[in-house]
Amino acid sequence: QTDFILASIAGYLLGSIPFGLLLTRAFGAGDVRQIGSGSIGATNVLRTGRKGLAAATVLLDAGKGAAAVLLSAMLWPGTEGVAAVAAIVGHCFPLWLRFKGGKGFATAAGVLLALAWPVFLICAAIWALAAVVSRISSVASLTAVTAAPVAAWLMGRGDLVVTLVAVAVVVYFQHRANIGRLMRGEEPRVGSKP
Ligand code: G3P
Repeated sequence: QTDFILASIAGYLLGSIPFGLLLTRAFGAGDVRQIGSGSIGATNVLRTGRKGLAAATVLLDAGKGAAAVLLSAMLWPGTEGVAAVAAIVGHCFPLWLRFKGGKGFATAAGVLLALAWPVFLICAAIWALAAVVSRISSVASLTAVTAAPVAAWLMGRGDLVVTLVAVAVVVYFQHRANIGRLMRGEEPRVGSKP
């Protein structure tokens, strides 16, 4: 019981480090929350025109998700799923930014890499295919998080299904504005001018 509480707190705190905001501020790219979708995630950092900062954001946001899972596996074995969801919740609702953070996809990718790398590889391939076909970041993200529990199930990791469904629910919730724009045909493609 205590282990689950500790893993949630550690996961949340790690997840809530707002790398997108910290990097754009530190490297003079302004406040990422004032542009595009207002998200602190890598897709929106890319809208500042700083590709390097966007790449660093995706790596660090994924890294903190993976770190949360690995840390919980080391300190409190059996709590990895809870730490994984807590890290994504931390990224999406960081205390430091009045609970307005990112959309959770990069952190979800890091979490999945640490939980089950073969499932991660399959989902990465599905993400890449969806990205190439749609050229829309949110479509690729939503496709990959939807595929994750199914892929885990098919690959004999039924133990991860509940965690990955919870991850998908959080990521879908954070994409509610994107889903509205997609339905109206107004969601921008990657690289298009805002
Ligand atoms: O992973 C985030 C992406 O799916 C959407 O980001 O900034 O276009 O709402 P954004």
